[in-house]
Amino acid sequence: MKRVHIPVLLNEVKEVFKDLEDGYFIDCTLGFSGHSEAILSQNPNIKLIGIDQDIEAIEYSKKKLSIFKDRVEIIKGRFSKEIEKILSLNLNIKGILADIGVSSLQLDRSDRGFSFDSEVLDMRMDKTQDLSAYDVVNFYPREDLEHIFKEYGELRNYKKIADLIIDARNKKRVESAKELSELILKNIKKTRKIHPATLVFQAIRIEVNKELKELESLLDSIEKYKPKGAKVAIISFHSLEDKIVKNRFKKWAKSCICLNEYIRCECGNNNDLGKILTKKPIVASKEEKEKNPRSRSAKMRIFEFKS
Ligand SMILES: C[S@@+](CC[C@H](N)C(=O)[O-])C[C@H]1O[C@@H](n2cnc3c(N)ncnc32)[C@H](O)[C@@H]1O
Repeated sequence: MKRVHIPVLLNEVKEVFKDLEDGYFIDCTLGFSGHSEAILSQNPNIKLIGIDQDIEAIEYSKKKLSIFKDRVEIIKGRFSKEIEKILSLNLNIKGILADIGVSSLQLDRSDRGFSFDSEVLDMRMDKTQDLSAYDVVNFYPREDLEHIFKEYGELRNYKKIADLIIDARNKKRVESAKELSELILKNIKKTRKIHPATLVFQAIRIEVNKELKELESLLDSIEKYKPKGAKVAIISFHSLEDKIVKNRFKKWAKSCICLNEYIRCECGNNNDLGKILTKKPIVASKEEKEKNPRSRSAKMRIFEFKS
């Protein structure tokens, strides 16, 4: 491990979830439990349920949080599946946090295949799942590659990038992230400050881990159970995710759900599930951005359900 994972927006998360008297807190992306440890420490009567799909994160967090003994339950799995099971138990849930994305460990470990110089082409957060970046790059049909580069990478030259990969793999399979990033670097002009492969890698990672579907499904489950009085904080790292969170919170906060063509309200104008606590997303301070470059793109939105 080159460096430990530094939790983003830690002070801001602590502020949202302070003075929780009792009940449960769900950390959907436990990772290296930076946020969870802080929540458990500052709220001594709160119990934590932590979810992560990465076995290395689970093992690390089990040790780290063992000091909190039976206040902690850790589940290995996808939050899209696990959250529904937890919410259906009708526990007294006070907070839900999702800090979506990859951890520093995942990024830094060459054998996980997330970084440009990785010797493998993997990018699975859950190492037991079948689909990996290798399959996407070497076997996806042209139209699927174009789709992910256009939709998940928001790349204007998505056709060119798909062409490039198909030409390369027709000669020999693309074996590593390093090979892929060098291929992009050699052939695609740098148009922004970032490495030209950044958005290509982002798109492949989103596809491999089904990141947008996971987020939608998490929000679907929360919407279904409407945990009374709970605050939901979602930290996202790119605009596609932030848009999903923003729109869903807006929908939850809507009081009148009449169709636009109705002249008068007929729904009772009392359909909001709670309120949005962040008109604009919370972003990292200048100091945090300097200390932890990963925090530069972090955006946190918070919603509070009615009691
Ligand atoms: C940014 S890290 C979280 C870091 C954590 N908040 C901390 O303070 O250490 C994101 C973690 O969420 C996990 N993760 C991402 N998507 C997931 C999903 N759909 N289901 C379960 N875990 C997921 C990743 O494996 C990773 O460990």
